Amino acid sequence: MMEPYISQNSKQFFAFNVWSIEAAKAVMDGAARMECDVILQTSMKAFKQLDKEEIRTFVNRYMERKKIHAYLHLDHCREVDFIKEAINYGWDSVMIDASDKTLNDNIQITNDICKMAHKQKILVEAEVGRIPGSEDGVGGTEAGIARIEDIKCFVRNTNVDILAAAVGTAHGFYKGMPRIHYDLIERISRITAIPLAVHGGSGLTEEMLLKILSYKNVKKINVSTEVKLAYRQGIEECIQKECTDRGAFDPLEVERRIHDSVEYMTVNKLKLLKRAE
Ligand code: 13P
Repeated sequence: MMEPYISQNSKQFFAFNVWSIEAAKAVMDGAARMECDVILQTSMKAFKQLDKEEIRTFVNRYMERKKIHAYLHLDHCREVDFIKEAINYGWDSVMIDASDKTLNDNIQITNDICKMAHKQKILVEAEVGRIPGSEDGVGGTEAGIARIEDIKCFVRNTNVDILAAAVGTAHGFYKGMPRIHYDLIERISRITAIPLAVHGGSGLTEEMLLKILSYKNVKKINVSTEVKLAYRQGIEECIQKECTDRGAFDPLEVERRIHDSVEYMTVNKLKLLKRAE
């Protein structure tokens, strides 16, 4: 039987949010440069807009060409219908985010999704505690570091494959220095072997990311805002170099600069995986 791509024995991954074939290609080019496998995740908003068959086909073909694995993951999803769609279109994993519900409801909803997804060998990620900030419109400002008792109860009562516990990181830009509860990551590793996903990877220093990666139960670090910022950086460069000027507008150059900026950001993050090995 094939091992799930994320498991207690698997390697560690960065998961980058993408919203188009171009963004996926830039991330995969960065991953190929580092000879690293990678997770491409789609927010619910991106998922709604994407041509799912087209991106699945592209990722399959391109990873073969680039000799890496790229997994498609549905990020923070609150709607069962989208999870069903992701399963049907061959996403490799899905996240059900019922963290706004009571623990009992979160457990029940997660189990319903697990039943459905596991039939197709699709992995399920779920959130315990409240990771603050919003990811493409999903989430809220309310923060809540996961309580170890809740995590114990959650893993005992669900078949979840990946646990997104709120450990002090946040989606989007940090106001001030994030206070990451490394002790909680450590405590979680002692109560369960279920792989941990750390959200809110953008804006963390290299030292913080390396420290997170030193906990081998952390198998997935999510980065979204920095992908968007790298994309924006590419556009800014174009404006500076005047290739967006009306008379000299050069779409090829614009696309190349955006691509290279996203690829560069990806390479820099993936270098940390090598350093953490
Ligand atoms: P950032 O936007 O802070 O990188 O968070 C990404 C994330 O956790 C997506 O689920």
